[in-house]
Order: sequence, then C-alpha cells, then structure tokens
Amino acid sequence: MPTTTWNRHHILSLADFTTAEYDTVLQTAASFQEVLSRRTKKVPTLQGQVVANLFFEPSTRTRSSFEIAAKRLSADTLNFAAATSSMTKGETILDTAKTYLAMGTDIMVVRHREAGVPNAIAAEMDRLGVRVSVLNAGDGQHEHPSQALLDLFTICTLIDPDHPRLELLKGKKIAIVGDVLHSRVARSNIWSLIASGAEVHLAAPPTLLPKLFAEFILESGVRSQDFVISSSPSFPTPHSPNQQLFLHWQLEPALQNADFVMTLRLQKERMTAHLLPSLREYHQLFGITRTKLQLCKPNVKILHPGPVNRGVEISSELMDDPEFSLIQSQVTSGVAIRMALLYLLGSGKA
Ligand code: NCD
Repeated sequence: MPTTTWNRHHILSLADFTTAEYDTVLQTAASFQEVLSRRTKKVPTLQGQVVANLFFEPSTRTRSSFEIAAKRLSADTLNFAAATSSMTKGETILDTAKTYLAMGTDIMVVRHREAGVPNAIAAEMDRLGVRVSVLNAGDGQHEHPSQALLDLFTICTLIDPDHPRLELLKGKKIAIVGDVLHSRVARSNIWSLIASGAEVHLAAPPTLLPKLFAEFILESGVRSQDFVISSSPSFPTPHSPNQQLFLHWQLEPALQNADFVMTLRLQKERMTAHLLPSLREYHQLFGITRTKLQLCKPNVKILHPGPVNRGVEISSELMDDPEFSLIQSQVTSGVAIRMALLYLLGSGKA
C-alpha cells in the first residue's frame, strides 16, 4: 500500500481534491486491483469496522460495489434501503444516521436524491464529535465522487496499468456527452479531469447544457480564461493552451480527435419539463454510433457510468464492443476504487 499520508475525514466532493490525493487514491486502488486478481481476494485491513450503506435512492452497481469492496476489506456491512426502512414510518434522515451510529458504524456511504444530504450527515457526525466518516455515493444533481474516481482509474490504468496517476491525462481530449445538466457524474468528472490537465469538451442539446451551467462552473472556481462556449456548428477555433473546458451544443466539435468519450444517461426522472423532442431525435443528434466515432482518434474508448438506455446514449452494438467500450471495466475498477476510499477513510480509525 502507498505510504502517503491521508488527512481527509469525509469524501463529499472532488472540488477541492489535490493532485496528491488523486494520486494516492489511484495508487491505492492499483494495489487493491492486484489483491482482486489473487485467488483469495480478501485482506483483513478493516476487520472489526462497520461500513453502513445508506441508500435513500435506488442503485444497482454503486451499492453492490461498495458492499463487495467493504467485504473484500473484511469490514462488517449494514445495508439500508429507504423503501423497506423506518423512514416509511416517518423517521428523519439524521435520526436514521444516528441509529446506525449507535450500532457502531465507522463509515457511512450515503446516496440521496437531494443534493447536500451526505454533507448534512457529515456535519451532524462532526457536531456530535464522533469519528464517523461519510462518503458521498451520489447526491441529487450535485456530485458522485467515487464514480468520477473510478472513471479516472479506468482511463489511467489503460494508459499505464502499473502506475496510474493524474498526469497521464494531461493534454488528452475528453468529451462528456449527454445530459450534463442533471448529471452528478459529470460534475465530479469535470473536477478530476480539469485537475489532470485534460481538455474537457461538454456536448449536449442547449436544454441539457444551458449557459447557466457555465456560470455555475465558473462560480465553482474554474478560471474564466480557461473556459470557452462554442454554440456554432463549426469546429472550435484555435485556442490558447490553457483553455481546458469547452461547451458545445453540437456533438461533432466535441468528438473531433477525442481520446475518450464519456456518455451520460438521460436522467428522465430529473427532467421537470419536456427538454427533448424525442429519444429517437436525441439518438440521431447526440447518440454515439460507429459512424460518429470516426471523428475521434482511431483508438478512442467510450465510457458510461450505467445504467445505460440502450440505443439512446450509445448504439447497442457499440456498447457491447470491447474494442471501444470500457463500460464493463468501469464496473470492475469501481470495486478497487471503493476499496481504496474505504481503506483511506478507515485505516485511521483502527
Ligand atoms: C449514476 C448515478 O446514479 O448517478 N450511476 C451510477 O452511479 N453508476 C449515473 C446515472 O444514474 O445515470
């Protein structure tokens, strides 16, 4: 395991992650990837600790991934699902968290459809003066740090399997395509990719990538000189080397010479208005197909956090083509990344 010190007590957002923290997470995950390739895929690192998965919103891969990650580290796991819990009897979120605290929970992994719930639980734990760590597993449209870190790990290990590190992405062109507006995955990815020095191109219809989003990003700390909005159908004009974030209302300029294409699910459950004419039209304009992929670098790879709307964000056959699709590797990388995060938060508590 890398010997770098780790001082972060909760993982709620990637907005203030440092290069050293990204590299520690990536290197720790690489060590666990090695553990996961052994015949006995388990280490005693978190023996005696309790990891509670507090999922107030449905999930397949993130919840299962945290559960198997905790088990591989020999932690005891508690699984909570809102629909079958005392919340149906009116118990509040903080009271639910305190119930898990009273059972000796060391790490709470929290997902909620409202932004800020993991932060609120973390603040309450700090107020109570207990050494419980909170890990954000996706809060509303805000952030999904473990997903962005597993995306980063998937890409970095493809470039250098033995020594994944942030700087490997410097100068790479990465397109993030789809429902950026509603996506917590995109928000976390923007932080990590900007930190790496990659060139990030967001592409979506104007309803799913309003100019307001640009203001949001700028307010969050991206420097305005690093930021370009391209609403013209033409390809972007030459730009200064430190321009890193581009917004497009067409797909083509984002795909042109891209090294990686990150596709996003259309978050129909978060759409409050009719933001698209039809799924068919969306697929025609923004869906990733073999033909559109020809604009990218020849060895381009495609990512998607899942769940996928087959044939909408990406054509069904491309999704299953291992030459281009990293979707299954993302799921595999997720276990190593979540082991790394639980280890980094949990090892200080022993
Ligand atoms: C994402 C999520 O829930 O935010 N999925 C995931 O965690 N793998 C993306 C999505 O739901 O579209």
